[in-house]
Amino acid sequence: MKNKTLKVLEILKQNFNNFVSGENIAKLLKISRVGVYKIINKLNEEGYKIIKNKRLGYKLVYKPFSPEEILKQNFSLVKKIYYYKTITSTMDVAKEVLSSQPQIDKVLVIAEQQTEGKGRIQRKWFSPEGGVYFSLILKPQIEPNKVFMLNYILSVAIAEVLRKKYFLNATTKWPNDVLVNDKKICGILIEADSEIDKVNWCIIGVGINVNIKKEFFINHNLQATSILAETKLSCVLTKFLIDLFKEIDKWYQMFVQNKQKIIVEKWIKLSSTIGKEVEIITFNEKIKGIAEKVVPETGALVVKTKSGLKEIFSGDCIHLR
Ligand code: BTN
Repeated sequence: MKNKTLKVLEILKQNFNNFVSGENIAKLLKISRVGVYKIINKLNEEGYKIIKNKRLGYKLVYKPFSPEEILKQNFSLVKKIYYYKTITSTMDVAKEVLSSQPQIDKVLVIAEQQTEGKGRIQRKWFSPEGGVYFSLILKPQIEPNKVFMLNYILSVAIAEVLRKKYFLNATTKWPNDVLVNDKKICGILIEADSEIDKVNWCIIGVGINVNIKKEFFINHNLQATSILAETKLSCVLTKFLIDLFKEIDKWYQMFVQNKQKIIVEKWIKLSSTIGKEVEIITFNEKIKGIAEKVVPETGALVVKTKSGLKEIFSGDCIHLR
């Protein structure tokens, strides 16, 4: 981008969602008003959305997703980004990237829309425009029996960002969800490849309903919600991801420092599962009872059933009461 274009963009970004007069921009940059007008047209062609008003000037209302801005933050877990507007599934692309470059680590594959989004247990993950869909490739130096912690780290980080930045009543649901007002706002899917004592790679897939309209969930009969549906405000995706990765970095560092218990305790504090009557559907049985706690060392959910306490490591969880 040319220097003057960058400067116009900077002024509009500083006044995001507010009008700035063409005359002021022209004066600040010592160019003509026609020059400003031409730059605005160019920015609109590049994907920015700048509203023009004869009396008030120009207002930036949408910035396209910017991988550069995310990389500039130097997050410890993101060293490279593959960004797509539309893709089949970020999980599939992450696996392709991994198989063509086996040595890579800390790579983010991100899309604004997926045509074949995958959920847990072979379910489909609805991925319309307005969501954030990413897969993070990691090669953590951990034992295979600690991979479950990635789920707790991600769930806590996502719930925290929704609480702190959007004032939403976000809760963690066992095993891999984040809810807002009992509706799903985020799902996490972790795939890993390990040997007996070593993790070769993990791909952490995350889908978050950010700017998806309420009607989408109603039309598809989904018990789900989005930031837009809850707050009536649409988010700037780049900012959302920067806030999110700050939080992910923070909780991941705790994990690196062996503070596993603190992370799980935070998850429990944020949880809408603990204390509820639940039904857990595992590969071979259905378990009903009260969700009592999570064991920090193993990630197992402890359910008090009629026949005693049961530790469950994976399954589909339904909140009954
Ligand atoms: C679930 O709750 O079932 C997990 C959903 C995970 C969805 C994400 S979106 C990004 C990544 N790519 C996919 O195809 N799935 C995961």
